[in-house]
Amino acid sequence: MSDSVTSGPGSPGPEPFSPDAVFHVEPRPDAPEPVVFHVEPPAVAASIFGDRLALAQRYAVHLVGSGVERGLLGPREAPRIWERHILNCAVVAELLPDGARTVDIGSGAGLPGIPLALARPDLSVVLVEPLARRVDWLREVVEDLDLPVTVERGRAEESGVRTRWEGADVVTARAVAPLARLAGWALPLLRPAGTLLALKGRSADAELTRDAVAVRKLGGNEPRIVRCGNELVDPPSTVVVVERARGSGRRPGRPRRREERS
Ligand SMILES: C[S@@+](CC[C@H](N)C(=O)[O-])C[C@H]1O[C@@H](n2cnc3c(N)ncnc32)[C@H](O)[C@@H]1O
Repeated sequence: MSDSVTSGPGSPGPEPFSPDAVFHVEPRPDAPEPVVFHVEPPAVAASIFGDRLALAQRYAVHLVGSGVERGLLGPREAPRIWERHILNCAVVAELLPDGARTVDIGSGAGLPGIPLALARPDLSVVLVEPLARRVDWLREVVEDLDLPVTVERGRAEESGVRTRWEGADVVTARAVAPLARLAGWALPLLRPAGTLLALKGRSADAELTRDAVAVRKLGGNEPRIVRCGNELVDPPSTVVVVERARGSGRRPGRPRRREERS
């Protein structure tokens, strides 16, 4: 049986969103009063999430509440949850084609998979995460938000995960593994000409220089860097884009045998 769960149309919808929940109260042992900070989104979030902004707010409340309490996110991330996490991931939606079957490797607290699903209801999204504690949290959140997102417990390189999710149009990942290792996990999950989108930040240039040859050997095309959300987030999100080569005879992600290497 597949260790996965899907929520979506047909499952019970979330409780009505309470505006009170846009404040998060964090007790601090070193402070006389609990620290209260705003989880209200910046104005630009409305143009990214449209009529799903309230759902995105609800996700933010999960992240800074149970996400921090249960160790999926460090407490220092809470005050910068929108700019550094939710919006930084959501702007990458501009690189995904309509209706893309998307696999997010190493989702952790759902990043970037959940912001992408919130910004782009046309996508079908699978979150692949090996750690049970994180998977439990992800399933609770996906169910609460009533998103058409599947949570798969496993490692991206496992044969069961590959069999269930290969043929994806897009694989996403943020802060999961160096580019070459990530390409080895992602390319076998992609259809020919499908695309790996690796959210990389400042390390992008160095990783591209270091790993471009390895990526090509694994069955990818020349990696390139794209910046997303130029008018929306500061700094823009930096993404390394790798397309799976069309018509490479062998399955990508496996080193070529000696007789293939001439
Ligand atoms: C540093 S966290 C990043 C989480 C999230 N992507 C983010 O940006 O906040 C790396 C995540 O990758 C997961 N991970 C590590 N190895 C993996 C693998 N082989 N396949 C899938 N996920 C993996 C870890 O369990 C962890 O949740």
